[in-house]
Amino acid sequence: MRAPTSAAVAAAFLLSTSIVQLAAAIPYSSPSLTREDNNVDIDLVRDNAKLISVHSWELGTLAEALTELEYPQYSVFNEKSAFPVHARRELPQDVLNISETIIAARLPNMTTLIDGDGAAGDPASLGVAVILANWTLTDDAAKYGEAAKEQLDHLLYTVPRTPSGAISQRESEVQLWADFIYMVPPFLAYYGAVQGGKNGSDLLQEAYDQCRLYRDELFDADVHLWRHIDLGSWSDAHHWGTGNAWAAAGMMRVLATLRASEEGQSMIFQQANLIDWIDQTLIGVWKYQQKNGTLLNYLDLPVNQTFADTSSTALLAATSYRLASVTGHDKHIKAADSAYDLIMREVDEVGWLHNTVDPLSFSTPSVPGSYSPEGQSFTLLLHVAHDAYYQGKWVDTR
Ligand SMILES: *[C@@H]1O[C@H](CO)[C@@H](O)[C@H](O)[C@H]1NC(C)=O
Ligand SMILES: *[C@@H]1O[C@H](CO)[C@@H](O)[C@H](O)[C@H]1NC(C)=O
Ligand SMILES: *[C@@H]1O[C@H](CO)[C@@H](O)[C@H](O)[C@H]1NC(C)=O
Ligand SMILES: *[C@@H]1O[C@H](CO)[C@@H](O)[C@H](O)[C@H]1NC(C)=O
Ligand SMILES: *[C@@H]1O[C@H](CO)[C@@H](O)[C@H](O)[C@H]1NC(C)=O
Ligand SMILES: *[C@@H]1O[C@H](CO)[C@@H](O)[C@H](O)[C@H]1NC(C)=O
Repeated sequence: MRAPTSAAVAAAFLLSTSIVQLAAAIPYSSPSLTREDNNVDIDLVRDNAKLISVHSWELGTLAEALTELEYPQYSVFNEKSAFPVHARRELPQDVLNISETIIAARLPNMTTLIDGDGAAGDPASLGVAVILANWTLTDDAAKYGEAAKEQLDHLLYTVPRTPSGAISQRESEVQLWADFIYMVPPFLAYYGAVQGGKNGSDLLQEAYDQCRLYRDELFDADVHLWRHIDLGSWSDAHHWGTGNAWAAAGMMRVLATLRASEEGQSMIFQQANLIDWIDQTLIGVWKYQQKNGTLLNYLDLPVNQTFADTSSTALLAATSYRLASVTGHDKHIKAADSAYDLIMREVDEVGWLHNTVDPLSFSTPSVPGSYSPEGQSFTLLLHVAHDAYYQGKWVDTR
């Protein structure tokens, strides 16, 4: 079932885009040993990520990073084992701890998983971890399922939408942020994949539609980049590096969830479009890559009007490896390798990633001595995606 589906997706992908020039889809030859040759202690990067992640989206991103790093058998990138979800030999304890902590702190009057401080999308970033708890814990699991259902219903029925149907990133007004793509569609898709049946298919379609509707609003086709924030009482028209990273990586998780799930496997057209949209974004961002491998915080501004940002560089490189693992096409790998090498040089001996954007200001670097929670998690995601590409993928497909 899987093989014809993949072939059909590849065919649909070829038909769906004339911009993408697919060279012969020859699997990457033997990985170069220098790729693994860095001094980064990934456990320290992880410990630091745990230490400083506090906001809703930071915890949601950390939960995803821990799943991919420590329990890949539960990750949507592991197509053969992600679904159906059930407790395997090893419980995803580090992820469950996050779910346990936030559900224990949840007030009875809340319809979201955690307080989003005005953001409608961000609390949903924890949804996958909470669903994982629902299916793997043996005691008191139902409260996780109920909390996930309330979060879903809140998004679907309470949060305001654009006339076209895009769910707002904010509670108080309709405003679209590129960030939303990592927070909400992966949760909708995962929820749909575990539910299955007609309702599950509808949710998988909803996840896809939210990517589509957001892209219609935020993607500037002339430069192949996403604007950060639009609609509502203010906007940020910059092509923010991290915004583009959230968008590309979020679509990548939706794509992986479709491919890994029974209902999503037949959604060929949607998979082909997601591949194209991720690819288009990567074409855009890597065009502005600097000589040393970094991206800039505002991707297409002159370097003296912005600054180098390792956070977005890490997540976009991770997404490049993930996309290549699916398509078999290495067109973004040179850029990703150069970014990977830079990131591993930018992690110090005690596991901190340097030269990040301050994720709360969007527009200034992290002040000396402070670090980026999401940047720490992005480094974990990059490490895993890189190793999956070089060490896992090609063995299977030859
Ligand atoms: C998770 O919780 C268990 C039990 O409460 C604890 O032993 C373990 O150290 C926790 N793990 C982390 C990573 O916090
Ligand atoms: C829930 O109740 C607390 C006080 O108990 C209040 O501060 C908070 O705003 C309420 N939250 C919602 C979503 O109504
Ligand atoms: C939680 O698990 C139960 C089965 O134990 C299932 O019926 C329910 O649909 C699950 N909820 C979610 C949100 O996955
Ligand atoms: C599917 O969704 C409908 C409408 O929300 C609901 O009434 C029905 O119970 C759901 N079916 C299942 C199997 O969950
Ligand atoms: C990489 O190059 C950019 C300019 O293109 C510079 O701002 C940045 O500091 C450099 N990063 C490192 C780690 O050297
Ligand atoms: C930025 O650099 C350009 C040349 O690339 C120069 O023309 C411009 O004056 C510089 N702007 C500032 C603010 O330094």
